Amino acid sequence: SKNMLWGGRFTGGLDPLMVSYNESIYYDRAFYAQDIAGSIAFARANTVSGILTKDEFSAIEKGFAQVKKEWETNTFDIKPGVDEDIHTANERRLGEIIGTNIAGKLHTGRSRNEQIATDMRLWLRDELRKIETFLTDFLQVTAARAEKEIDFVMPGYTHLQRAQPIRWSHWLLSYGLAFATDLQRLREVTARINRSPLGFGALAGNSFKIDREAMAKELGFDSLLFNSMGGVADRDFVVEAMQWGTTLMSHLSRWAEDLILYSSAEFNFVRLADAYSTGSSLMPQKKNPDSLELLRGKSGRAFGHMAGLMMTIKGIPSTYNKDLQESVEPMLDHVKTVGDSIQIATGVLSTLDARPASMLKALTPDMLATDLADYLVRRGVPFRETHHISGRVVALAEKEGVPMDKLSFEQLRGVDGRFEEDIMETWDYQRSVELKAAKGGTSKAAVLEQVEVLKGMLEGK
Ligand code: ARG
Repeated sequence: SKNMLWGGRFTGGLDPLMVSYNESIYYDRAFYAQDIAGSIAFARANTVSGILTKDEFSAIEKGFAQVKKEWETNTFDIKPGVDEDIHTANERRLGEIIGTNIAGKLHTGRSRNEQIATDMRLWLRDELRKIETFLTDFLQVTAARAEKEIDFVMPGYTHLQRAQPIRWSHWLLSYGLAFATDLQRLREVTARINRSPLGFGALAGNSFKIDREAMAKELGFDSLLFNSMGGVADRDFVVEAMQWGTTLMSHLSRWAEDLILYSSAEFNFVRLADAYSTGSSLMPQKKNPDSLELLRGKSGRAFGHMAGLMMTIKGIPSTYNKDLQESVEPMLDHVKTVGDSIQIATGVLSTLDARPASMLKALTPDMLATDLADYLVRRGVPFRETHHISGRVVALAEKEGVPMDKLSFEQLRGVDGRFEEDIMETWDYQRSVELKAAKGGTSKAAVLEQVEVLKGMLEGK
């Protein structure tokens, strides 16, 4: 322990298991670039305030360029048992390159507590910006399909029972607009993450008049965090990002579940591309929708990381406590899971084969029973009464053992004398969807309007 960065007051050695239990280098190395950028910004600010000379700053900047290169080329030699985390590893290596006389000044007034908070915010901000482009791509594919396949009509379900005819594009946009709302949420979350804790010290602040605004600007932060005690201990930004990711994954999970059903032989509405399916080692005929099942399954994993971190942070005293190190791995895995999942979903959707003939075949005339009731409504009959009349037509068709649309005009007339010849026009699925013309409904114009709404949301409207 006395060789460690913080070893001044220690005499004994650490239990070897405690060394590995404590170290985070094997995962927080993900932040090497952010840690170096933060260190350079910190050194620059300490140069302006006179803690470092210009020459010392140049040496630090040059030394870090080499350290960064070593990480990039996978030649950084992690010293097991010494390089506890990314901050100590970078500083140890900098000292070897430029000498500890200069490297030893870098940490003046600084704490790893502010470093990790800074690194995580920078990393998460950049990852969420990548995720924003993945999500935008996914939504563009959704919008393009919805426009191109606007004429496909399929059954819409409630309780997984055939309910009313809808456009396939209406189904696409039912998720598309939820994902577009996720995009709006993502932009809001990212803005809150992009605030700087650098210059907070261990908990109480910085004694060397460091220019926090200048450092924040250099690192691309939008603004500062205020209150050093809160700032070093805050992991709400990680929680919020994971709550966001969990919401998105719950949408992807339901989207995937629908497509799993729709790709089964029983539905046969869509066919998954080979690139996103796998076979069975035993049954030669099988083509399994593994991509979709993994989207559904990984939503549980993403939720677990979010819930786990909330448990971790709920009872810790202020300010920094080592518990907070347990926020790193959940974040890394959650973010990778979410980013990969959106890209897989995009791949699935852009290669999916939609089958309008099967969709049409799955429509049944009883799904027009509401339209039959609406016919009499338009002739002034109260809906509660027309609902009942239409129900009697359903029962008659069942009794006769024919689909509703095969009942003769005379048979319909027998149920209610107010049916006229034009009642037979009811048995038309296209007509049914076109009647749903109010905004947000499943008529062609209403669905195409949804596409425009979605495109506007992509542009931040
Ligand atoms: N590696 C730590 C983390 O991820 C930062 C180090 C702070 N350690 C400390 N003893 N104050 O949270």
